[in-house]
Amino acid sequence: METELSRELGIEHAIFGFTPFPAVAAAISRAGGFGVLGAVRYTDPQELARDLDRLEELADGKPYGLDVVMPAKKVEGVTEADVEAMIPEAHRGFVQELLTRYGVPELAEGEASGWRITGWMEEVARGQLDVAFDHPIKLLANALGSPPPDVVERAHAHGVLVAALAGSAEHARRHAAAGIDVVVAQGYEAGGHTGEIGSMVLVPEVVEAVAPLPVLAAGGIGSGEQAAAGLALGAQGVWLGSLWLTTEEADLHSAALTRKLLAAGSGDTVRSRALTGKPARQLRTVWTDAWDDPAGPGTLPMPLQGLLVAEAVSRIQKYEVGELLGTPVGQIVGRMTSERSVQAVVDDLTRGFERAVTRINRIAGRSAT
Ligand SMILES: Cc1cc2nc3c(=O)[nH]c(=O)nc-3n(C[C@H](O)[C@H](O)[C@H](O)COP(=O)(O)O)c2cc1C
Repeated sequence: METELSRELGIEHAIFGFTPFPAVAAAISRAGGFGVLGAVRYTDPQELARDLDRLEELADGKPYGLDVVMPAKKVEGVTEADVEAMIPEAHRGFVQELLTRYGVPELAEGEASGWRITGWMEEVARGQLDVAFDHPIKLLANALGSPPPDVVERAHAHGVLVAALAGSAEHARRHAAAGIDVVVAQGYEAGGHTGEIGSMVLVPEVVEAVAPLPVLAAGGIGSGEQAAAGLALGAQGVWLGSLWLTTEEADLHSAALTRKLLAAGSGDTVRSRALTGKPARQLRTVWTDAWDDPAGPGTLPMPLQGLLVAEAVSRIQKYEVGELLGTPVGQIVGRMTSERSVQAVVDDLTRGFERAVTRINRIAGRSAT
């Protein structure tokens, strides 16, 4: 699976893997793909520095990247406490009522909520970038919009390619105008924040919109045949997030959650604002149902919702409260039926890709005669 972009990055397969786990990112790169570590959960730059050191050590000199959630517009001087103060009491009461109804225990005294998505804050994301540019990252991706111009400039000065996720051709055009090097066209099926256009329609639209910029196909890819489809639609590689969640190297901290993912079918996810305030695909649970119920108070806009539910999500994960336990994941969860090593997943993807190419060649040969 070689394309111009994979050759530029010096990787064997044009398979890009987004993951929150350094060991998974390293294993993807070691297996000949390109591992990208998600930085959004790192509030402490020192912790990110330690994990990037570890990734580098495990990656055996193979290239890797970092994904940040950098706001395109600067929001100066706003602290987490200012944002917390904007959360209505009624919403806090709703969270409390749900936790009580399902008997979710409290965290131990002094135990900090381990799940605080504050990487979207300007000061946090900037701290992450200082650490990132001290490491030999080869690609910097941004989740929600184009990164600010000074960040694009800084990345280019370090010889780092800049990628950005796009859920529509319009988003993609904006990225191209902002000087982005690689567009990740992420379809409706994908895990995490996602738009409303399916990958099959989106990928060729984005390829056309930003040509000749390279595009990566994302959303709903879990086999080599699906990867081949993405490349057939004009992408220069594929970008996968969900599939790595059930690899042996992943550290979900919850055997119950892994079991839930392995048992889930492709219809068991929902695009809900319950986690962050923006539509994000995740496992459907009684938690997402409660937030999406018109009889409830509804979700708050980003970033309020994320801060509102942070502690509750930590408690649900820590105590593995079955009905409420969830995670961002895409519709491809239906194919995630066994725990495998990252190497085995990559081998399976490349074998499937070869099968698809053989099949299409055969069909093309037959139709030509
Ligand atoms: C658990 C999880 C967390 C994610 N978090 C982020 C994130 O922080 N930043 C980002 O750019 N994309 C994030 N994504 C989206 C992935 O980068 C990727 O585009 C998506 O998973 C591709 O679709 P797939 O899930 O069908 O493979 C996340 C996806 C998952 C499954």
